Amino acid sequence: MAEMQTATTIAQLRMLVSCAKKAGSKIGFVPTMGALHEGHMSLAHEARKHCDFVVVSIFVNPMQFGPDEDFHRYPRPLLDDLKLCTDAGVNLVFNPSVEEMFPADFTTVVEVNGLTNNLCGKSRPGHFKGVTTVVMKLFGQVQPDAAYLGQKDAQQALVIKRMARDLDLPVDIVICPTLREADGLAMSSRNRYLSSEQRSVAPLIFKSLCLLKEEMGLGKHKLISQYREDLLKRLEAIPKALIDYIEIVDADSLEVLQTMSGALLVAVAIRLGNTRLIDNIIINTSA
Ligand code: PAJ
Repeated sequence: MAEMQTATTIAQLRMLVSCAKKAGSKIGFVPTMGALHEGHMSLAHEARKHCDFVVVSIFVNPMQFGPDEDFHRYPRPLLDDLKLCTDAGVNLVFNPSVEEMFPADFTTVVEVNGLTNNLCGKSRPGHFKGVTTVVMKLFGQVQPDAAYLGQKDAQQALVIKRMARDLDLPVDIVICPTLREADGLAMSSRNRYLSSEQRSVAPLIFKSLCLLKEEMGLGKHKLISQYREDLLKRLEAIPKALIDYIEIVDADSLEVLQTMSGALLVAVAIRLGNTRLIDNIIINTSA
């Protein structure tokens, strides 16, 4: 297989992708902010399976971080990331600078309304505007046939899917399952911030989601608000955890539900110290 290529400018990227396109390659794209782990790599593997030329972008996007968030301390282990990409058979890594992506006179934003009103959209104002703007730019730069996103960021995946549909972008959005550590904790670049004490209780987040799914499966006919209350109590019992949000919503529209019907998305954001972790589970109530 040809050696993995890297590009730091949009011009280099376009040149390399257009060569691949001319050779008839189907282009698969995995946008990331780096600090790569097996969860990210599962997206690259999926792209590898279905596409001929796989592009991974590594760009810590300042536009999607709030002023008090972790943009400056976000991990940037570029050499480790490049090694993981090489091992996964990625063809091209795009790693632009902030100036390359957002020159001083950059003034355009892309915003998806409605779907961004609750969950992370509510607790991180402006976050999704930053995500959709940068992803729209990356799509314009890479012009992929398919883009691979993780269910771990359920709302982000739906928002990007809606953007692609609303703006008629010729890209298939493929949503891939959440990869977890052996104890159930969803893999995340931010897990490396956790102290050993925080790391030891973090799996209780997913455990609580699984218990909720089990309870709903038992056909106990409680109100959604009661299930939510049960989940809240379990999550509040995690030592030193602060609840950012707990939402039980329609898995497609993200609208808050009063009655149990169709596929539910149970999504939570929990703070352990300075680290904010998100996780979610889909519960099909008609199954
Ligand atoms: P980042 O957090 O680096 O995630 C990149 C992609 O990896 C996202 O689609 C995310 O859902 C997926 N991912 C993260 N953890 C995962 C896991 N445990 N299992 C499966 N997939 C996982 O999400 C972003 O970056 C940014 O917002 C981005 C889309 C790149 C725009 O800047």
